[in-house]
Amino acid sequence: MYRRRTHTVDILNVSLATRSYPILVGAGLIGRADLFRERLAAREVLIVSNTTVAPLYLPQLTAALSGRRILEVLLPDGEAHKTLANMARILDVLIANHFARDCAVLALGGGVVGDLAGFAAASYQRGVTLVQLPTTLLAQVDSAVGGKTGVNHPGGKNLIGAFHQPALVVSDTRALATLPARELRAGLSEVIKYGLICDAPLFEWLEAHLDEVLAGDAAALAHVIRRSCEIKAEIVGRDEREQGERALLNLGHTFGHALESATSYKEWLHGEAVGAGLVMAAAMSSACGLLAAADAERVRALIERAGLPTRSASVTAQAALEHMRIDKKVLGGRLRLVLLRRIGEAFVTADYPAPALARTLEAHCG
Ligand code: NAD
Ligand code: GLY
Repeated sequence: MYRRRTHTVDILNVSLATRSYPILVGAGLIGRADLFRERLAAREVLIVSNTTVAPLYLPQLTAALSGRRILEVLLPDGEAHKTLANMARILDVLIANHFARDCAVLALGGGVVGDLAGFAAASYQRGVTLVQLPTTLLAQVDSAVGGKTGVNHPGGKNLIGAFHQPALVVSDTRALATLPARELRAGLSEVIKYGLICDAPLFEWLEAHLDEVLAGDAAALAHVIRRSCEIKAEIVGRDEREQGERALLNLGHTFGHALESATSYKEWLHGEAVGAGLVMAAAMSSACGLLAAADAERVRALIERAGLPTRSASVTAQAALEHMRIDKKVLGGRLRLVLLRRIGEAFVTADYPAPALARTLEAHCG
């Protein structure tokens, strides 16, 4: 992957042979007609957004796309609407309007819109062009990059989906100005995760500059978005289908998912559960004699300063363990975890002492 800088747009590249694509990062990109003229050939575009994001950013986007045939599907806001029924609604519109194979689906919103629209783009005529226009920090640093798309099922989150890489990602940092503070903090947990996995300098930078990021400082936000996308692009470029290294991106997620599902996805945002999960993964790494106790404490302190939870008062250790046992990462009866050797070096293992996991859960639950 390489990075090229122009006056107003940072351009990163996800290298995946014929499926390579650029990620554009900059302020005010949603309204930049020149970028779409240069980079989007489709004459027919379907924009998928939701009722919160559309009033804020859809007019700029449609103006920037003028001259094309534009349709819109506006979904109700919320994770509860990331369903097969809403995906079918998008497909119905594409079919009813006879959109051809060279059309494009544009996802304007957070991870919910991106995953849903992405899955519709993956399925329509076995795959049409997808453009991700992420408007949350979480989507800009994580979900819009890497090609995981899908919907939820009453039986579980993200159970139905496909890998479908976007043709273009447009991350408009100005959109984050309207994002609720709680959503910004939730996205930060994924940024902290990248530092922990493979970039100790990023983690140290966050320790020094967290207040600027939390205050919405444009330059600080642009820095964390660029660096996070670089890291994710590198990992996805080496392991698109999660056969190995990409699993590192699940650091903190096995603990986090257990807390989310034990609370029926009602108590915390995903990024908040990941925040507590990162603290637990660090504590577990320390309990296994890997990570220095002082570094586990640095992780806890940074998560706390970011305004994210560091433990769960409402889930018992027993309930968390039961939810972890049904995680997708159980292989051959052994739960695989992503642990830390040090800040900036993560690895996947099923080889850890069971009492260390029990002690970690007891210390952070109930
Ligand atoms: P979200 O899409 O629900 O957005 C959060 C809230 O912010 C929503 O209410 C939304 O309407 C609002 N919003 C979005 N942009 C806004 C803006 N600029 N101004 C004001 N409000 C705005 O949540 P999310 O955290 O972006 O994404 C979570 C989803 O992403 C989950 O469904 C999760 O499974 C998925 N996800 C996918 C991947 C992947 O690789 N595909 C990775 C991580 C998470
Ligand atoms: N969010 C984890 C991944 O994209 O693999």
